[in-house]
Amino acid sequence: MAFTFPKHSKMLSPAFTYGVATASFQIEGGIEHRAPCIWDTFCAKEGNIIDGSNGAIACDHFNRWQEDVELISSLGVDAYRLSISWPRVIKDDGTVNQEGMNFYVRLLDKLKEKSIKVFVTLYHWDLPQHLENKGGWLNRDTAFKFQEYAAHVVKALGDRVYAYATLNEPFCSAYLGYEIGVHAPGLVGKENGRKAAHHLLLAHGLAMKVLAKESPNTLNGIVLNFTPGYPLTDSDENIKATAMANEYHNYWYAKPIFDGEYPALIETLPKAHQPDIFDGDMAIISHPVDFLGVNFYTRAVYEADEQEGFKEVQLPNVERTDIGWEVYPQAFTDLLVDLNERYQPPAIFITENGASIDDEIEDGNINDERRVSYYQRHLNAVNDAIEQGVPVQGYFAWSLMDNFEWAEGYLKRFGIVYVDYKTQQRTIKQSGLAYRQLVMGRHK
Ligand code: FCB
Repeated sequence: MAFTFPKHSKMLSPAFTYGVATASFQIEGGIEHRAPCIWDTFCAKEGNIIDGSNGAIACDHFNRWQEDVELISSLGVDAYRLSISWPRVIKDDGTVNQEGMNFYVRLLDKLKEKSIKVFVTLYHWDLPQHLENKGGWLNRDTAFKFQEYAAHVVKALGDRVYAYATLNEPFCSAYLGYEIGVHAPGLVGKENGRKAAHHLLLAHGLAMKVLAKESPNTLNGIVLNFTPGYPLTDSDENIKATAMANEYHNYWYAKPIFDGEYPALIETLPKAHQPDIFDGDMAIISHPVDFLGVNFYTRAVYEADEQEGFKEVQLPNVERTDIGWEVYPQAFTDLLVDLNERYQPPAIFITENGASIDDEIEDGNINDERRVSYYQRHLNAVNDAIEQGVPVQGYFAWSLMDNFEWAEGYLKRFGIVYVDYKTQQRTIKQSGLAYRQLVMGRHK
């Protein structure tokens, strides 16, 4: 099994960066060596995680990191995207936990030894619990705490890093975590979501300032997720509803960063649902970025809804991965072209893309054909966007290995490497072998 591209594809050039991605809470374990975070608390509450699991051990990466770097290196990839666990490197009193910081220093040193570029994400959802106790992302002060944390990390990691992303998917933190409550900290309320989003965006802007000053040689940016909306039919109502959904879920994060303002929809929201925007906030939020990280998995289909304005509909008889997400690669190309037209980001990296498949291991093999097919079509969707002039410079598979998939626990497998959670044995899947072949087979 191998991935194919049009012959002259830029994605076959060694200048195009290929990587694999993970996040701290999803793989590390080693929780006794760090302060508690909101996901520890969320997992402890019955009913929040489908299989009742937590991040106590996860992939035991905290202890197996050397073996995991060897694994990454064996895949031949150019880059590794990881996230730093805030509660591992900063103590509750705000000072550095040197032991925790050293974990990342050693990890990055080893990656450097292997010539693997490191893309660091500063926040992939594991907010220190003591900050949540003071209101978490509903408290404006958390944004300033994030800025301090970013400064500590930059100082400690120095030139070991190739690129920094401030936040991963603020949509998920704000909407899933504070508005509908399916992610940590599990709060519900329309009056929460936009406020949390504003403080997250402010945190991003404040950290950008630190990064630009203290780390001018790294690429500094943010990772946003997009689930582009499509109207169920081409009726005016459905088209209007879809435009609204796109503003509420997608452009809500990109527009402030690139245009310095929220989508017009903000004016139509009840005052109580609107964020408190201080003078100067939008200028901080729209600090120039070196790159936009794009996470893409699927699209959403919408119809008009009298009460809410828009409503997501599940199309019958469409191809889906085993997490229930529709496979619709054309949306990936459309999205990239649209983002480029709207915002002209200086560079785009696809920071996540991948498929959840209920893999089975047979005679030591994981024949994940459906994941291979997903990657084949999505890699080509990216190539189509590049051919239309979108400056995509790299692509990261989500994920390096199966891991803790948030509210889905360990039941959903996204890895190109299989993890047997009983033995912690890692086995490269067919998709991983195909990825390796693509990366290693590029024209030199
Ligand atoms: C994204 C997250 C990532 C992973 C994938 C499947 O929303 O950033 O951690 O869970 O989805």
